[in-house]
Amino acid sequence: METLNASGVGNPINRVEGRLKVMGMAKYASEFPVENKVYAQGINSTIAKGEIVSVDTSEAEKLDGVLAVITYKNAEKLNSFDEEMPQLSTTTIAPVLQSPKINYYGEYVGVVIAETFEQAQYAARLVKFEYKKDPDPTIHFDESQAKAYKPSGNPDYSRGDMAAGMAEADETLDATYNTPLEHHHPMELHAIIASWENGKVTAYASQQMVENATIAISDTFQIPKKDVRVIAAYVGGGFGSKLNVERHATLAVMASKMVNRPVQVTVTRHQMFTNTGMRQHNEQRMQIGAKRDGTLTALSHETLSHTSTYQEYQEPCGMISKMLYDVPNNQIKYRLIPMNFQTPFAMRAPGEATGSFALESAMDEMAWKLKMDPVEFRIKNDTQIDLSTDRPFSSRLLKECLRIGADKFGWENRNMEPRSKQEGNWLIGYGVSAASRRAPYRETSARVILEMEKGQVHATVQMDATDIGTGSYTIIAQTAAEYLGIPVEQVTVELGDSNFPVTPGSGGSWGAASYCNGARAACENAISELKRNRNIAEDEEVAVADLLRQNKLARFEAEGTAAPSEEFKNHSVFSFGANFSEVWVDKDTGMYRIKRMVNVGSAGKIINPKTAYGQIIGGLTMGAGMVIAEQTKVEPNFGNFITRSFADYHVPVNLDMANIDVIFLPEEDKIANKMGVKGIGELGITSVAASIANAIFNATGKRMRDLPITPEKLVVAPVESGVVS
Ligand code: MOS
Repeated sequence: METLNASGVGNPINRVEGRLKVMGMAKYASEFPVENKVYAQGINSTIAKGEIVSVDTSEAEKLDGVLAVITYKNAEKLNSFDEEMPQLSTTTIAPVLQSPKINYYGEYVGVVIAETFEQAQYAARLVKFEYKKDPDPTIHFDESQAKAYKPSGNPDYSRGDMAAGMAEADETLDATYNTPLEHHHPMELHAIIASWENGKVTAYASQQMVENATIAISDTFQIPKKDVRVIAAYVGGGFGSKLNVERHATLAVMASKMVNRPVQVTVTRHQMFTNTGMRQHNEQRMQIGAKRDGTLTALSHETLSHTSTYQEYQEPCGMISKMLYDVPNNQIKYRLIPMNFQTPFAMRAPGEATGSFALESAMDEMAWKLKMDPVEFRIKNDTQIDLSTDRPFSSRLLKECLRIGADKFGWENRNMEPRSKQEGNWLIGYGVSAASRRAPYRETSARVILEMEKGQVHATVQMDATDIGTGSYTIIAQTAAEYLGIPVEQVTVELGDSNFPVTPGSGGSWGAASYCNGARAACENAISELKRNRNIAEDEEVAVADLLRQNKLARFEAEGTAAPSEEFKNHSVFSFGANFSEVWVDKDTGMYRIKRMVNVGSAGKIINPKTAYGQIIGGLTMGAGMVIAEQTKVEPNFGNFITRSFADYHVPVNLDMANIDVIFLPEEDKIANKMGVKGIGELGITSVAASIANAIFNATGKRMRDLPITPEKLVVAPVESGVVS
């Protein structure tokens, strides 16, 4: 596709909504000036398992400004799950305060509604609960493994014969990798302002998927979907935590119905550890067999993790091990322990971020056993067929990502032997990891309104898509500019309202491909209709302003829908990548620095290199966070999370990050979708944890299999046998 104008597809223009954001005028959920609104504050349980035996709301109710206190005693009856352990999805109902039963420490047990935020906060502390505590909550992962069960969706998979594959191998590896409990923590706190009026709900809510939010809210309250309107004009990050409707939203809607006023709930940072999702702890056992020449003969990936005691979520950590390499004998297993914590849910690159840490660390371990270059080892086992589905990849440039990355990084300067590159007290290591992330594309609709203004066409694109900080507004504007043949300055994009045409929302790296193709379809339909009305041939080039003039129209509206093709369904469509990192480790203290990274990605057509780089750099930073710092710690007696703020739940800051080169390979993948756009939101985080851990091995000879790799763990870890120290 040729770029028609300076701000169309492919150009690194600034964010179209950037000015609004820096001026504080882009409205996030809690900033809408809804008249007459009041504030609600959720109250959290202080036991991990048991039940409420008494509630005393009298002190709270006496306070000035307090309008109501809701607990299970006076809460309205909501829809309930019709099965035990239902799977958590993006449309799952979110009932709350329905029984005295407590499933985890921090579960909502009540909500106070007051005229001001401060009154609600203070009153929430005065509500007294007495509990009957179950003395034996399931809060210790290591001691609860006997409770593990096979998840209901039957996600296990195998091909070939794993045992035979291991038997024919010259070298085998059996190693277990751990990733800890993590929390998403978008900058914007989860928030909602809900109004219940005449049985209809309007919610300004921080949600990634507005259509699915309307489904979850209407199902929870058993009202028609058309009576729920969700508005999420700007969303300050989500990373998966805002994919589904969480229970604070139910509290707000329920409270609004009760007090007959709009109710705002802003979840506190503290509560975002217990009430808005998390990534569970994964224990991943990898078994690999390979021939002396590097040919893989067997690969097994078994994941043990946990879900809540009332809902099921299973992170697909083994997904990547089914499809990334050419291995005939393959086995993927999952087991879950029901634990007294909230239900975990998708966190950026669910499956790949954690699964590739295990797989790509194990591949590095095997390369070292074979004394083979880890880049060559991966290339040797490349495949153009997805063996898990027997479908060809629509386009797979993994080898190219590895080769070009190695070249840009200076991989030839790497020593195979660990601990052999030193500068003063620093041990220097190079690491590599491959990355792959499914590039989904989902049915998406959009509306375009064309208006003549002072002799120019102005286009307004409307869709229920969200911009979770990724740049949706900008790339949709660029797409419309491209397909209408007008400058991007003449395009306005309006998003995040369930009254607009339906999109799949932002998640799973399908946003860019879906949104842009939806906007494209609407623009193409507009042009086609205007041409058809005047008997102008489809292929005749006529400016859209002239088309409106010839149609004698000052305003024209069209809709369009894009959807995956048959060809798409017959292929495996993925984005690929490779990350190279250089790490310096202090020999005596175990302190380390990520010095530089080269990250190469192939993700089809890049609509806006600037926002795309932002996605990769953000993903790499979050991935570096997995390695250097992030972990939620459980208090061992009560089952509370004790890392409850950014003072103790550490995320990387600028100083922690390396100099990063982000490279996108030119790739045309028209099977992926008409515009050839593939996802990048999750590709960055997928490639980085193993790359850094592998660089640490190359620097120190210490194989670190448990994230995060803290200096205190690293300094005491043994040097692997066989490494010259
Ligand atoms: Mo993503 S974990 O689908 O926001």
